[in-house]
Amino acid sequence: MTGSDLSETAQTLVADGKGILAADETVPTVTRRLAALTIESTPEIRRAYRKMFFTTPGVSDFISGVISQDETIHQHDDNGTPLADLLIRLGMIPGIKVDYGAKPLAGCPEEHITEGLDGLRDRLREYSKLGARFAKWRAVVEVSDRLPTPCCVQANAHALARYAAICQEQGVVPIVEPEVLMNGSHTIERCEEVTGRVLHAVFGALYEQDVSLEGMLLKPNMVVSGGACTTQASVKEVAVATLRCLRRHVPAAVPGIVFLSGGQNHLVATEHLNEINQLKGPKPWTLSFSYGRALQDEALHAWRGEGENLGAGQRAFYHRARCDGAAALGRYSPSMEAELLVA
Ligand code: 13P
Repeated sequence: MTGSDLSETAQTLVADGKGILAADETVPTVTRRLAALTIESTPEIRRAYRKMFFTTPGVSDFISGVISQDETIHQHDDNGTPLADLLIRLGMIPGIKVDYGAKPLAGCPEEHITEGLDGLRDRLREYSKLGARFAKWRAVVEVSDRLPTPCCVQANAHALARYAAICQEQGVVPIVEPEVLMNGSHTIERCEEVTGRVLHAVFGALYEQDVSLEGMLLKPNMVVSGGACTTQASVKEVAVATLRCLRRHVPAAVPGIVFLSGGQNHLVATEHLNEINQLKGPKPWTLSFSYGRALQDEALHAWRGEGENLGAGQRAFYHRARCDGAAALGRYSPSMEAELLVA
């Protein structure tokens, strides 16, 4: 892929009214989510779970691409078609999570550094052959009165930029995901301060390592109150703070910003995205979604691991994708929620 191919793929991923499905939970994480509903986690059940999303009729109207993880990208459908090829056939771009997860950061108790740079070039070559055209790397930043440390912010920014540079060298669009976590009792103001600092460091590192901003996407958290904060910011306050922070720290050359949901309730995640898109003033990037839990939760509850519930799970997923697609255009309305019943 050339630079213009990278930017074309990045733009296709944030086409009007479309966003990304993050279906790249590691095996231990997806096993935890299934276990919460007493669903057994085997390779076959995980394949059925992913396939429910991938084959939802018509969902490519709202989903431009899907992030998978290593197990899924090596699986096939019942006819022997690789799941990545199936996605392409259904009109979605396959993507792949390439990090090895957040590990304890030496010298900084309570903080984490995302690992996985070693061997990344070779892994990307293999994933490209399997059809992946974009990748994801997630860094996590804990917030408290004392955290994050400058060491944590700089180390993760550096690793994100190294990852992004290697992806672009291999013709793969990097999704750069620095997640400031919602866990904790911090205020929305503290979240905005930390998110701004992290984005500033990330774009500094991307600049130093010559990453093409046109050929990448940013996947940030929204600026929200900590989950345990006694004062929870309103939808409007979240939208205003999020957009202000992004305007201050994200260059206009980045084609798209695709938010993570980070533990927000699915309805709230839809409302926040819609409100952000409804705000007046400059928005030089497309603002869309790359949700995991907020796109999957209703479908998981409807499916519950039973083949006979496949249709119900797919209807739930289609509905949420449609609502989030509308929110990406600032055209969502709560009245859409009732339409699931007649879909
Ligand atoms: P959530 O939307 O559940 O936060 O997942 C998005 C993601 O890809 C996290 O890395």
